[in-house]
Amino acid sequence: MNPPAGAQGSRRLVVGVTGASGMLYARELFAYLAGRPDLEVHAVASEAGEQVLRHELDLSLRDLAGRRAVLYRVEDIGAAIASGSFLSRGMVILPCTRVSLGAIAQGQSRNLVHRAAEVTLKEKRPLILGVRETPLSLIHLRNLLAAAEAGATIFPLMPAFYHHPQTLTDLARHLVGRILDHLGLEHDLGKRWGE
Ligand SMILES: Cc1cc2nc3c(=O)[nH]c(=O)nc-3n(C[C@H](O)[C@H](O)[C@H](O)COP(=O)(O)O)c2cc1C
Repeated sequence: MNPPAGAQGSRRLVVGVTGASGMLYARELFAYLAGRPDLEVHAVASEAGEQVLRHELDLSLRDLAGRRAVLYRVEDIGAAIASGSFLSRGMVILPCTRVSLGAIAQGQSRNLVHRAAEVTLKEKRPLILGVRETPLSLIHLRNLLAAAEAGATIFPLMPAFYHHPQTLTDLARHLVGRILDHLGLEHDLGKRWGE
């Protein structure tokens, strides 16, 4: 991983939302970020991402991310986050489809979600992929391996139960907390083992 991105970069987080099931996780990530006015959130949703978000939560990316976030159009490949010169702490794609996973793993950036992820990898910044599909085919498994070999952290949306979640929100928060751990962001989302 690259050395810390400097004061400006470490304040920024890029978030991609693609069309997999699991928008509850995205909701909890953005809820956390809403409580962190010290962070700049730069977000982009794929077309399918917006569609599934509407289907699962009846919300748009703007509803989820709030007014403070900088949002980009997925076709805007000239956006700031498409360039490696745009400093950031890293990128999270939550949820991440096997389509976007494949595009990233194969270096075929067909939209701004893929391009921002590609840039994150080439600049050796943390890239977290909250992949969801089941079961996984050999193609998916190979793409997961290729993405991991290129430096991405694979965060399959597999909830844990050892912390005794009482609600779906508890369940989602626990996983989002683990993602935040990987980004070096302090949080109190869920109990840790041994606490
Ligand atoms: C309600 C709904 C749920 C879906 N869930 C998943 C999923 O969990 N994983 C997945 O890979 N694709 C899922 N899809 C299909 C993707 O949205 C679709 O393949 C899309 O083209 C992915 O494009 P994107 O990666 O640009 O978002 C779902 C589609 C719908 C409508």
